[in-house]
Amino acid sequence: MLFSFASIIALPLVAVATIVPLVEPAGHTHSFVPSTVKPKGRNMTINGVRTYVTLPKKKYDKGTAVLFLTDVFGLPSIDSPLLADKFAEAGFATFAPDYLNGDALVQGANHSEWRVSHTEAHTTPSLLAVINGLKKKGFKTTGYCYGGLYVTRLVQNNTIIVGSMTHPSSLSVPNDWILAKEVSKVPVHINSAEFDTGFRLPLALATDEVMGNGRYEPGYWRTQFDNVGHGFGVRVDPINATQVAAKQGAFDNTIQFFREHLY
Ligand SMILES: *[C@@H]1O[C@H](CO)[C@@H](O)[C@H](O)[C@H]1NC(C)=O
Ligand SMILES: *[C@@H]1O[C@H](CO)[C@@H](O)[C@H](O)[C@H]1NC(C)=O
Ligand SMILES: *[C@@H]1O[C@H](CO)[C@@H](O)[C@H](O)[C@H]1NC(C)=O
Ligand SMILES: *[C@@H]1O[C@H](CO)[C@@H](O)[C@H](O)[C@H]1NC(C)=O
Repeated sequence: MLFSFASIIALPLVAVATIVPLVEPAGHTHSFVPSTVKPKGRNMTINGVRTYVTLPKKKYDKGTAVLFLTDVFGLPSIDSPLLADKFAEAGFATFAPDYLNGDALVQGANHSEWRVSHTEAHTTPSLLAVINGLKKKGFKTTGYCYGGLYVTRLVQNNTIIVGSMTHPSSLSVPNDWILAKEVSKVPVHINSAEFDTGFRLPLALATDEVMGNGRYEPGYWRTQFDNVGHGFGVRVDPINATQVAAKQGAFDNTIQFFREHLY
């Protein structure tokens, strides 16, 4: 189900920049999780911003952290803390800031109306407040959908040491990658989906065109998951083996990329 971008034949660059659309979630806004399953971490306030904090049980590197940037459903969606807990189980102190400022998207709400009050101008101050409050030496950052845009911004600003994103949205392709290539020293990893209606295959290939085959010196890896669509890294039907494997695979690749780029 997984193939390496190196095997893709390069396609010509798309002539105009495309903004990766935010995809309306189909059906439920979170996975079905039995009520007995509870998040292991807790909400804390860091520099005035609510942040879900989840720490490894074993000894871990206190100088670095994983910054977990949620999708539009934010901290209230059970998928967010449970996925953040997996990063902690993998050995990383993990922090998920509520950069949606207590106003995550809820089921049935109008997405495009919600967007108006959740632009970069609204979101970035809370995100940077948490980063400044933590004062770690290095951040490894993972973002899902909406969070992918912010991982890209942190890559472009050289604020983090590694950036990984899963079905990112709202980026400008190829412009955001051309900018990253000019200014950034941060390795980039992307988990994409064959049937994403946002970060569609042509946009993924246009990203490879800028970043792939060694063209992006800090390091680039895109892994694609077949038979799944937007949101696959977060929401799954727990009895669907394809969906469960793709979500796990995206997580595993993110961890692998983090470990390969320690500093
Ligand atoms: C953290 O805060 C959010 C609200 O932003 C809430 O929905 C969620 O249940 C809280 N999580 C925990 C683990 O307390
Ligand atoms: C959401 O709001 C926009 C702008 O107000 C409107 O054009 C659109 O039809 C609405 N969508 C739905 C599904 O109601
Ligand atoms: C990145 O840097 C730009 C330019 O200084 C700034 O406007 C923006 O808020 C920064 N974004 C993030 C997420 O760091
Ligand atoms: C499992 O999920 C995949 C991807 O979303 C879908 O194509 C497939 O039809 C699903 N299988 C079942 C049995 O629902």
